Amino acid sequence: MNKFSRYCRSILFTPALVAERSVKATSLDADLALIDIEDSVAQAYKAEARARAVAFFSAPSEVPCRRAVRINNLGSPDGLLDLLALRECRYGPDVVMIPKVESPRDAEIAGHLLGNQVELIVIIETARGMENLSSTLAAQARLTATIFGAADFALSVGTSLDWHSLYHARARLVTATRAAGLHPIDSPWFDVVDTAGLVTAARRSHDLGYGGMAALHPRQVPIINEVFSPSSTDIEHARRVVDASGSSGGRGICLVDGMAVGAPFIEAAQRLLYEFDA
Ligand code: GLV
Ligand code: MG
Repeated sequence: MNKFSRYCRSILFTPALVAERSVKATSLDADLALIDIEDSVAQAYKAEARARAVAFFSAPSEVPCRRAVRINNLGSPDGLLDLLALRECRYGPDVVMIPKVESPRDAEIAGHLLGNQVELIVIIETARGMENLSSTLAAQARLTATIFGAADFALSVGTSLDWHSLYHARARLVTATRAAGLHPIDSPWFDVVDTAGLVTAARRSHDLGYGGMAALHPRQVPIINEVFSPSSTDIEHARRVVDASGSSGGRGICLVDGMAVGAPFIEAAQRLLYEFDA
């Protein structure tokens, strides 16, 4: 079973400089509320953003929502300063997201510097990061998920954000992530007023095998949660598959609603019930 899969459909990003939004993000039904000190913060404000993140994780959360931070790239002094500052925080973060990861080095450094309780997510968003995927994903036991960084990846390979331009990269990341037993999360839909576009993008990601998606605005969270959760019909069907396999005495193939259902169908149904049936 993939680590992280039971609860991470949505990650709500908030810029660190807007402290009220970061606190509010924890109460908006996102599976993970993330405070960003990387690309939503201009270079001149990095120190201030870092201080805000430290303040955020020095106070306990008033709600049970898990909290994350996106630090700066660990090839930069800011990234290292971020990690050192976060070590001092009393209440988290639960998850540290590392951007522009291109090799096992970054997860190893973060793993060594942060405590055992902290989970790591790597953003794959450069051509080199994509080329070195398998070694990166094997780097650290505390790696739980990957996220596709569409904007930087498009920049890195010289293409657009169009679905067809990035299809190959998305498919490659999802396969490598699942092969490593981790949870793949897709890039956000950047047009925060285009709800129909978000629904289409989220469904495509889901159908490709992604388990969740980043959100840049609270209004995107319920849409993402819904797309990445099974419907009541899916749960009902999964129950029938598991029941039928039980009553066939484990002999192999059985019929459910006219469909011949064998081992992979049964395993998929069991997994769905494990992840989503309350
Ligand atoms: C996210 O970091 C992106 O580059 O899309
Ligand atoms: Mg990026």
